[in-house]
Amino acid sequence: MLDGRRILLVISGGIAAYKSLDLIRRLRERGASVRCVLTPGGAQFVTPLSVAALSGEKVYQDLFSLTDEAEMGHIRLSREADLIVVAPASADLMAKMAAGLADDLASTLLLAADIPVLVAPAMNTQMWRHPATQDNLATLERRGVRRIGPAAGDLACGEVGEGRMAEVLDILATIETVFGDGPLKGIRALVTSGPTFEPIDPVRFIGNRSSGKQGHAVAAALARLGADVTLVSGPVAQPDPKGVKVIRVETAREMLGACIAALPVAVAVCAAAVADWTVSNATKEKRKKDPGSPPPTIELALNPDILATLSEQGSARPRLVIGFAAETETVIDNARGKLARKGCDWILANDVSPATGTFGGDFNTVHLVTTGDTEPWPRIAKADVAERLAWRIVDALKETPR
Ligand code: CTP
Repeated sequence: MLDGRRILLVISGGIAAYKSLDLIRRLRERGASVRCVLTPGGAQFVTPLSVAALSGEKVYQDLFSLTDEAEMGHIRLSREADLIVVAPASADLMAKMAAGLADDLASTLLLAADIPVLVAPAMNTQMWRHPATQDNLATLERRGVRRIGPAAGDLACGEVGEGRMAEVLDILATIETVFGDGPLKGIRALVTSGPTFEPIDPVRFIGNRSSGKQGHAVAAALARLGADVTLVSGPVAQPDPKGVKVIRVETAREMLGACIAALPVAVAVCAAAVADWTVSNATKEKRKKDPGSPPPTIELALNPDILATLSEQGSARPRLVIGFAAETETVIDNARGKLARKGCDWILANDVSPATGTFGGDFNTVHLVTTGDTEPWPRIAKADVAERLAWRIVDALKETPR
């Protein structure tokens, strides 16, 4: 519920503005008061009259309107709210926000705001993917602006892809999260991330190229939805996600120990690239070169499988156990085999061939493989894979009894 919450809704230009009318209605149904700012672009798609009728308040449109300034003033407009929601957020308004422009009412009050801001971007796929928009988004997120969507699907411009404004119910759930009532509130989650390092001696190790970006993004997305998240991470350069308990480990055995210690959890997501083998003849002292002898032999022993172990926990088994499958060929078949072998519920299969740039990159192309179905997801940012996965977890936990 949003009883007594004061939302300042900025409606910028885009066909998705019609969904904002529904958003206003549902926010008010949940007890929030909604004051609206309509940009000139937004007013091309919805009328001030319909916005005023649904919000039950005057609609603000003009920075230089004397009446508005005398009655309210643009600074007070943003100060007298608990949250600013920009829905739809056009590429233009996001660019203005990132650049700190203040040449109309919406951009001015956003620059003057000292309260949380949530944007729900909506635009054509190419505009969304353009480096300018992605850079602006990164700038806004670095400054703490929250984001929901965009979703992928049919766009009003006739193209198909990412760019649709998030669904109204998802925007509502995110607003509740901002106020600390996310749909995963009270749910404990475990995420593994990054590589493991298996020592050869005190200075050398066997590792892999996992950056931890995907696993850290999953932990962050679950935390944003209110989950109580433990992230068990191998050595990575990623910053700790906000609001997440991070346990740092090096080896697969340490990772398994930390995961078992974090149980019970409702959901476990194993995104770590765990080394399959450990070095069984690792030495306590640094191995020295002996020019007269052949190079030393490294003997390998199988590491425990963390995903399979979590899936086998009997009554302590998480309700949902999710793995990733890093493959370079026959991606879906291999993932399906892993799903069966490891006894988990879902596998997110991704192609990590060097040409895809997945390892270390910001984008990922995954298939969600479950026992009955294979669902291809479009190539999207790792953060978006994480967000999409987090929402699927919300839905699945609703259907899985405790
Ligand atoms: N995994 C794990 N513990 C291991 C190996 C893998 O928890 N010792 C998990 C990974 O976190 C991932 C899934 O299992 O969620 C699949 O990992 P992947 O590296 O694709 O598969 P492997 O089991 O290592 O199989 P292979 O190397 O033969 O592809």
